[in-house]
Amino acid sequence: MARKKLIAGNWKMNCLLEEGTQLAKGIAAQVKQNKFDCDFLICPPFTLLGFVKKCLRGTKIALGAQDVHFAEKGAHTGDISPLMLTDLGCSYAIIGHSERRVDHFESNELIQKKAVAAHKAGLNTVICIGETGAERDEGKTIKVCQDEIFGSVPDDATAKNTVIAYEPIWAIGTGKTPTAADVEEVHAAIRKALAKKLGKATANKMRILYGGSVKPSNAAELLALPDVDGALIGGASLKVEDFIGIAKNACSK
Ligand code: PGA
Repeated sequence: MARKKLIAGNWKMNCLLEEGTQLAKGIAAQVKQNKFDCDFLICPPFTLLGFVKKCLRGTKIALGAQDVHFAEKGAHTGDISPLMLTDLGCSYAIIGHSERRVDHFESNELIQKKAVAAHKAGLNTVICIGETGAERDEGKTIKVCQDEIFGSVPDDATAKNTVIAYEPIWAIGTGKTPTAADVEEVHAAIRKALAKKLGKATANKMRILYGGSVKPSNAAELLALPDVDGALIGGASLKVEDFIGIAKNACSK
């Protein structure tokens, strides 16, 4: 079964109201104007979710958050629950981004718990995995990624409610990317781990995105790889022409 590509923008901690709404409107207009053979997802900071949702009206662009708490509600100062996200029109949450694993000490166990709660509330998840530069130099890339799949992906994961994002940490925001052959090797190994955990049928249908310095000039090569089913884009998702340029180069009809 062909997996439809997903072009996902992770705005991280960027954009104030004016800039964020202009960006969302610009992307929405371009998605309407062009014919793309892919799904789109935009993940602005929490503060902009409600505003961006309005800008995306009339398009099929999905809205996602960059994190979510596992509890339904209660005494968790500063956190956001899955139901708060669905209430705002979100259909996705990114979980386990390396910036959260590192900055907020998030473990595989916590990430899995968040994913279960998100799925229960009807959210789809983008579960992020990836090795550090040191792990790569030691030849541990595949082991690290497979361990993160076994540890972070919940048993209730399906090809519909879960997307995996492989993001080598050393490639995020650095302008460096692995070779196409390296990316394909890791993605194939991730799919193998998914098959072991969830069964072959689910693994074959589940989308595995590549993330880390994706830009219009490298998107076509990376997204043409057999096991690469889209991209999670940070820096280049903050400019309409770059984000749309990636889709144009990799997913034009
Ligand atoms: P980048 O970030 O595209 O800026 O490298 C990707 C990500 O962290 O999701």
